[in-house]
Amino acid sequence: MTKRGITPGTFDPITYGHVDVIARASQIFDEVVVAVAASPGKGPMFSLDERVALAEEAVKDMPNVKVMPFTGLLVDFAQEVDAQFVVKGLRATTDFEYEFQMTAVNYELSPKLETVFIMSPPRYMYLSSSIVREVASLKGDVSKFVQPHVERALQEKFA
Ligand code: PNS
Repeated sequence: MTKRGITPGTFDPITYGHVDVIARASQIFDEVVVAVAASPGKGPMFSLDERVALAEEAVKDMPNVKVMPFTGLLVDFAQEVDAQFVVKGLRATTDFEYEFQMTAVNYELSPKLETVFIMSPPRYMYLSSSIVREVASLKGDVSKFVQPHVERALQEKFA
């Protein structure tokens, strides 16, 4: 059986922290699907198509990783792509409550879908898409946080 994990998120935009989790998941699972959520409630800055394109470019050197958009429930998407695992990155303790809640809800909705966590390394512990957007909006240097193509996309957005 193919061991397939999904790494879900809004990826607005994808950061080195996300890429680190995806790369490590790709070492553990046969296949990884980066599931880019529409997340309309979060009012993303990049469109869903833009977020998918940025993520595709970010993982292009990982042969067992593909990127797909999704609009409904994560558990339904997991079933659609036949994934047995959800893989989430865990940063500072501030993530814990939110992740705990999402994991509990997903468990109630689909008990067979296992959620596993990968701890972020210290340098990415406090990295988030929102902080990257803020720094970029104020014309700060985000090259330590995102890949060059994402940096260019941010510069274009805030030009
Ligand atoms: O990067 P994010 O925004 O923290 O990721 C959150 C995400 C997209 C994983 C979460 O909001 C999600 O799973 N959305 C899909 C809708 C859903 O299934 N909601 C119920 C479980 S919380």
